[in-house]
Amino acid sequence: MKRLTIQIRVRRESYDVEVGSGLLVNSRPLSLETPTGRCLIVSNRKVFGLYGQKLLGKLGELGIEPGVYLIGDGERFKSLRTVEAIVRSMSDAKLGRDGCVIALGGGVVGDVAGFAASVHLRGVRLIQIPTTLLAMIDSSVGGKTGVNTVHGKNMIGTFYQPAHVLIDTDVLATLPQREITAGLCEAIKHGALAGPDLFERTTKVLDSNSQDRRLTEVDGLEDLIINQLRFKASIVAADAKEDPAGCGAASRKILNFGHTFGHALEKSTKYKVFKHGEAVGWGMLFAAELSKKLELADNTVVELLNDVVRRSGSLPPIGSTNVRPEDILDAIRFDKKSAGEDTQWILLRAIGQPVIVPQSEVPSNLLRSVLKDFVRHRSNS
Ligand SMILES: NC(=O)c1ccc[n+]([C@@H]2O[C@H](COP(=O)([O-])OP(=O)(O)OC[C@H]3O[C@@H](n4cnc5c(N)ncnc54)[C@H](O)[C@@H]3O)[C@@H](O)[C@H]2O)c1
Ligand SMILES: [Zn+2]
Repeated sequence: MKRLTIQIRVRRESYDVEVGSGLLVNSRPLSLETPTGRCLIVSNRKVFGLYGQKLLGKLGELGIEPGVYLIGDGERFKSLRTVEAIVRSMSDAKLGRDGCVIALGGGVVGDVAGFAASVHLRGVRLIQIPTTLLAMIDSSVGGKTGVNTVHGKNMIGTFYQPAHVLIDTDVLATLPQREITAGLCEAIKHGALAGPDLFERTTKVLDSNSQDRRLTEVDGLEDLIINQLRFKASIVAADAKEDPAGCGAASRKILNFGHTFGHALEKSTKYKVFKHGEAVGWGMLFAAELSKKLELADNTVVELLNDVVRRSGSLPPIGSTNVRPEDILDAIRFDKKSAGEDTQWILLRAIGQPVIVPQSEVPSNLLRSVLKDFVRHRSNS
């Protein structure tokens, strides 16, 4: 069994992320963080059905008998209503300040359980056990928790770092192909922002998905996950709470590459058509197109990103949704207006060279025409 560990530093605190195959069964990492108080596993029926017994067995060895709370499966359960139910269940389980929440699942479970952990009694210990590729490389680290509201994605949330993150790559064996594509899109995002080294490492695993090879059989998967996490950790360490005034390449805002369009696409299709990562896949291609039209980047970047996103798997066509360019534009405006912010576009000059461009520097007729072309073109393909 190969096990890699990295330490994520955020301000004066740090936590370990362990990555390896079989960790859920063979490891003793949870003992490192064994809480003295009670423990609640938050998961959903599907993931708990697959991996719950393993986790219960491991905790049993450590003398821990946790409570279990299962939330509904899907983005629509990333809501305040779910948080309220989790917090109620923590109180029912008499989970005190020395207690611990274990999030076992993808980004939805992690975001919502993390939020609940951060507000229950003003914060109890949180252990993330991500089970999707996206959650492994992205959402389980960095400390952003949150839920969606009618005003948009992640409108309510906290910055709350986990105490420990445990990544058992074996669980990827049961992950559906679309979820792998979604995770690969976020991995491509990190690669495109970080530079040629991470970009190339990431593109090497892409073809395994299209060739129907199991991701768990890909050589160097643990290394890739670690390198992805190192990049995310470096950005988080420099700007843990995403300073609203940040405007340089070290700002945490750059991690929103592909997300302005992506979130709007998710929202205007009522979260029913696209997985989050798939919407980010389209969002990166849109951002690349906009970068070209603003003469920040040349066509090579657009072609390169189109090639790698295509190789990650097929994305649901935008045309299949009847979404109109105006719907996307409205969703972008509404999202940001509700947050009292101006839209900022994360664009690329080249791989590894992100740039933050305020909406005021993007002529509205140009944005409209790029959107129109993009939606029409992607409808026909
Ligand atoms: N907090 C952050 O920094 C951050 C970063 C990126 C994304 N996110 C959020 O993460 C969410 C998306 O996360 P996601 O892509 O993991 O989606 P998800 O949590 O909905 O999981 C995707 C699907 O895979 C299933 N699943 C999970 N693990 C499985 C496994 N091992 N085998 C089989 N099925 C499994 C789930 O039940 C679900 O149906 C979005 O809400 C997004 O906003 C947060
Ligand atoms: Zn994302």
